[in-house]
Amino acid sequence: MGTDTARRIAVLISGRGSNLQALIDAIADRRLRAEIALVISNRADAAGLERARAAGIETLTISHRDYPAREAFEEVLVREIRRRRAALVCLAGFMRLLGRTFLDAFPNAILNVHPSLLPAFPGVDAQRQAWEHGTKVAGATVHLVTGDLDGGPIVCQAAVPVADADTPETLAARILEQEHRIYPEAVDIVLDGGWTIQGRRFRPAAPAAR
Ligand code: GRF
Repeated sequence: MGTDTARRIAVLISGRGSNLQALIDAIADRRLRAEIALVISNRADAAGLERARAAGIETLTISHRDYPAREAFEEVLVREIRRRRAALVCLAGFMRLLGRTFLDAFPNAILNVHPSLLPAFPGVDAQRQAWEHGTKVAGATVHLVTGDLDGGPIVCQAAVPVADADTPETLAARILEQEHRIYPEAVDIVLDGGWTIQGRRFRPAAPAAR
């Protein structure tokens, strides 16, 4: 494809890979100007690996179980991502916590998508957490990844009203639609550059500069 290296991304997955698919589709539709240089899964059975292969994207399975400690696992991830000259790492359902070895290798260059309106409901099963809490509005967030679990600066959010008839499953399905919409948008904004972080606040570039 020959996209410049500043727009090469790596995507880390552990499972289904529907957000990976949303990125693949957005690139194909030219809504997102990027090239996925590499998809890494920590599980060999992740369905997302097949999605990547079908799109002609290089894949690697790197299992955390093959390494004695998190640092050693993360060193391999870092090496493989750097080798592909990816400028941005996108977590898409990647179910491992990342430590300093990985975070320090890609400062302000790791994105994650989370199925809640952060800072509400960090952690696993966020859609069910929101439903059980009885919130009237749920949603999705794309944020930069820091050492705080689901706590980094917010790039994009989308609200999803909760209906009385919703179950955790129907709510999660509508949240997922929004994840698929905002993740490519957020990746594009970050790759365009010109943004700043002020305190906790992600400030996009002024429209003229983008
Ligand atoms: C998504 O709901 C994402 O927000 C969360 O994990 C799920 C991954 O789904 N972090 P998929 O693998 O992208 O389909």
